[in-house]
Amino acid sequence: MAYIEVDGLSKRFGRTQALDDVSFEIKQGEFAIVLGASGSGKSTLLRCMNGLTEATEGEIRVDGERITEPHPDIAMIFQQHNIIGQMSAYSNALTGSLQRNGVLESVLQLNDEADKILALDALETVGLLDEARQRVRRMSGGQQQRVGIARALVQQPEILLADEPVASLDPGSSQQVMGYLLTASKERGLTTLVSLHQVNLARQFGQRFIGLKDGRVVFDGYSEDFDLAVVDDLYDTADTDMMETDAGPVADGADGDGGTAASGGSEVASDEVKPQ
Ligand SMILES: Nc1ncnc2c1ncn2[C@@H]1O[C@H](COP(=O)(O)OP(=O)(O)O)[C@@H](O)[C@H]1O
Ligand SMILES: [Mg+2]
Repeated sequence: MAYIEVDGLSKRFGRTQALDDVSFEIKQGEFAIVLGASGSGKSTLLRCMNGLTEATEGEIRVDGERITEPHPDIAMIFQQHNIIGQMSAYSNALTGSLQRNGVLESVLQLNDEADKILALDALETVGLLDEARQRVRRMSGGQQQRVGIARALVQQPEILLADEPVASLDPGSSQQVMGYLLTASKERGLTTLVSLHQVNLARQFGQRFIGLKDGRVVFDGYSEDFDLAVVDDLYDTADTDMMETDAGPVADGADGDGGTAASGGSEVASDEVKPQ
């Protein structure tokens, strides 16, 4: 269990102020949503929180300890499914242990029994135990993202960060993936921060909200205070219309957070490891 403090965080890319004095706290076990239009700074925030991007000013603390680089207790789920299409769901899930055990062991799949059980357990949490042997490239986008969640769970994190995990999915799959994410988070008591740009999804699944606009926090509160005035403040009207009708994926600016594309993993051993 862990709590997170974001304290005076600013990030500039040249002349772009991606984050501007962002401060908030997420309590242990809380399921929080960062909501904001494209370009509002969500990805930058999550990347700073995971130690993937260095802040210009300010800091992130987990249980009071400053985070400056990727940390085994913090798992990240990316917008582009960070999985390898050639490998089975099970093998992909198992690579989550890489974050804890080291690269060589994971690549050679020298995982011990405990890791294998963790992988199967994580696949069960996301409803994919029966599909454990399926190659991921044959799976739907929603299933692929559920494999991404399983992979993050195998890392056995205290904190789960998900950057627009449903951005490329249709509304039905988005609901399903958000549901599994919430279940996984609650089941395992994970402190969770999910970024979204869809207001309706945020309201349906979130309890706690951080609203970002142009790199600044414009809302920090709970469901009861998260009303239309807040939404109007967060989005331009055109944007809000699109979000409310759930028109589907919105092209996101230069994120640079692609991770391993599902189709790009041919250099990685494609041998499947059979679930025991
Ligand atoms: N690596 C980068 N280099 C330059 N500008 C960037 C980079 N990453 C993000 N930005 C800029 O920072 C702002 C916030 O981007 P981002 O965090 O990706 O927002 P969001 O995830 O909410 O769409 C945008 O103006 C974006 O163009
Ligand atoms: Mg983004």
